[in-house]
Amino acid sequence: MRVRPGILTSSVLVALTASLAFAQSAHDEPQSFSERARAFMESLQNPTTLPTGSAAVEQGSKVYAVHCASCHGPAGEGGKGPTLAQPMLSRAQNDAELYKVIREGINGTEMPRSRLERNEVGFVAAYVKSLGNKPPEVVPGDPRRGAELYATKGQCFTCHAVGGRGGVFGPDLGDIGRKRSAAYLRRSLVDPNAEVPQSYNAFRGDVSFPQNFLYVRAVTRDGANIDGVRVNEDTFSVQIREATGKVHSLFKSELKTLHKDHGKSPMPSYKDAFTPEELDDLVAYMASLREVPKQ
Ligand code: HEC
Ligand code: HEC
Repeated sequence: MRVRPGILTSSVLVALTASLAFAQSAHDEPQSFSERARAFMESLQNPTTLPTGSAAVEQGSKVYAVHCASCHGPAGEGGKGPTLAQPMLSRAQNDAELYKVIREGINGTEMPRSRLERNEVGFVAAYVKSLGNKPPEVVPGDPRRGAELYATKGQCFTCHAVGGRGGVFGPDLGDIGRKRSAAYLRRSLVDPNAEVPQSYNAFRGDVSFPQNFLYVRAVTRDGANIDGVRVNEDTFSVQIREATGKVHSLFKSELKTLHKDHGKSPMPSYKDAFTPEELDDLVAYMASLREVPKQ
């Protein structure tokens, strides 16, 4: 490997500092010089110790209110993002992971990479950690009855998949319980337009985002109507999946109009289809879906 002299000098410096920093702590497990240097570099990237004390948590709560509350709820109770007020977070099982998730976001999901200063990330992580002491969200309802309603009366599988089985017209729900709060899940059922995946909003033009369910209505030059979710789009063409599952690939030059219903969900409202108890059961079922997707 060829290394530019500047980098070489700085890495030697870092390695030297590293060997000093680790000189005391590492005597019980002998490590090579380069191993210690690497560990030190990683600890700079993702410190394993978060700031502690009420002042740090207080500081973190301010950062949280501005940058996180809109998705995770003002008190960490969840919303579009999962509830953070729980003793164990599946994506952040220790301090280093928590720091990393907040700093780097989670690829392919709506959890954004942060634009915070390093110390702010530490403070907000300390605050999130403190939320773990709160009592966890109580979800009323019976998940087993909910699973039954999902399959029978709801016919939800026609549009959604769980455990790799079911339709693809709507998003995969296999890990929906990890991603969203129970309140959000209930809202999705009674008022689907209230919360559409962020990728679906007007400001997010990224069609390669895995969960993009923009509802579009096309009229061809010979008068045919094609409505469904946009699967893909580029300058010249658009692919639309109808509710029946049929995918149309259309050249834009063949279309009279292409209307995009930003913020409108193709999912029907289930407000009147279920009793309040049945809605509780369905929400309890969805909250129990916590598959961890393969990375
Ligand atoms: C635009 C919405 C949004 C914003 C803003 C946002 N998050 Fe998230 N966050 C999410 C979503 C969605 C997930 C779940 C991703 C997944 O696992 O699919 C998530 C996941 C997480 C997780 C992992 C939770 C777990 O159960 O493992 C942590 C921790 C977290 N966010 C903290 C934060 C913090 C701290 C901020 C502010 C600096 C923040 N988030 C800002 C949407 C958001
Ligand atoms: C006609 C197809 C269709 C049917 C039937 C349907 N959905 Fe949906 N659903 C969608 C689409 C498309 C979306 C994505 C747009 C949105 O969020 O509204 C969606 C979104 C959702 C979301 C929000 C997902 C997220 O990540 O925000 C949940 C939860 C959900 N559906 C649950 C259900 C349940 C439970 C049923 C059965 C009672 C059901 N759906 C029936 C098409 C459908």
